[in-house]
Amino acid sequence: MTDFPAGFLWGTATAAHQVEGGNWNNDWWAWEHTPGTACVEPSGDSVDHLWRYPADLDIMRGLGFGSYRFSLEWSRIEPEPGEFSSAALDHYQRVIDACHERGMQACVTFHHFTTPRWAAASGGWNDPAIVDRFIRYVEVAAERLGPSIDMACTINEPNVVSSLGYLAGQFPPGVAGDLAAYVQANDLLVAAHRAAVPVLRAAGDFPVGVTVSMSDWAAEPGAEDQIPVWRAPHEDTFLDATDGDDFVGVQAYTRMRVGPEGIVGPEPGVEVVDMGYEYWPTAAEASIRRAAEVTGLPVYCTENGIGTTDDPRRIAYLRDSLRGVARTIADGLDVRGYFHWSLLDNFEWAHGYRMQFGLVAVDRETQARTVKPSAAWLAEVMRTGSIDAAG
Ligand code: GAL
Repeated sequence: MTDFPAGFLWGTATAAHQVEGGNWNNDWWAWEHTPGTACVEPSGDSVDHLWRYPADLDIMRGLGFGSYRFSLEWSRIEPEPGEFSSAALDHYQRVIDACHERGMQACVTFHHFTTPRWAAASGGWNDPAIVDRFIRYVEVAAERLGPSIDMACTINEPNVVSSLGYLAGQFPPGVAGDLAAYVQANDLLVAAHRAAVPVLRAAGDFPVGVTVSMSDWAAEPGAEDQIPVWRAPHEDTFLDATDGDDFVGVQAYTRMRVGPEGIVGPEPGVEVVDMGYEYWPTAAEASIRRAAEVTGLPVYCTENGIGTTDDPRRIAYLRDSLRGVARTIADGLDVRGYFHWSLLDNFEWAHGYRMQFGLVAVDRETQARTVKPSAAWLAEVMRTGSIDAAG
């Protein structure tokens, strides 16, 4: 008895700024070097995936992944407004080709949190011109890479770009508590996604969607009516923007709790992971169910994982998480794939390198890679389609 049907797409995900190294021309690099931000350390050389991608893809192939989800670094492709780098596009073409040479698909994300410095300097996601700027870049990149792309995500977690950038002040531009700026960013991110879909569709024959940061939502007793109040702007704004897309990408890690006054922290007694939120392995299941219900679209879990130095805990999380994903499939939901976050321990944004989300450890002095037991565990599930087979 297998838990996952033949043809279920198994992948792993990274993002350019978190793994490539040397992405000095975007707003994140600037943010990392701005005194007083929440960033604990700069991204620096990261894990040098820019140069080491062939060896990293060899590891993925060895583990049995069918797809690699990675992002294009806009600031490399368009270092100054309207000035495009064919060398950068050549690089990403080589990454796609390297996936194909290893029998893997290339799932390409066009925006994963980072915006070129020049676009950030003229207002970023609060300047209506960002939509045309983003589309100009998507057009150029898609025209070049589109014929060989297998699946495309327009924008990664637009709801995190807006909420952490304009409400929490933890992501660039570091604005805290500006509701109007937040709503404007949401509107522009939705507009950018909507405008990117037909551009991508015209550039090749592959499914196109957006990925949304989602959670399992719960209320303290008596605060149930607060769930929609907080969930609607954060999740529904983007789930509702998927009309006509080919899929919705669900990214889920934990549970979100609300009380009468709004978002509250972990429930006493529930394990807390290094990221400071609850260990909640049914987040993926709950989020997949809700995304399917709200959008009516096929679902890919485009990110799920755990930041931990305790690799057996990662296996436990994965096991419970995948059981949840398997339940959605058993219930007849159209769930087509699972991408684990992440292949490598990498730059976890403001938290830096302390958070270890990888199936593969990296020694950042030598850049040596070490495959963890959790990777072997997942490889066995992917090989057999059965969670129990992996032990
Ligand atoms: C997501 C994000 C990834 C990664 C992950 C783990 O929100 O898309 O870039 O950081 O969380 O926290």
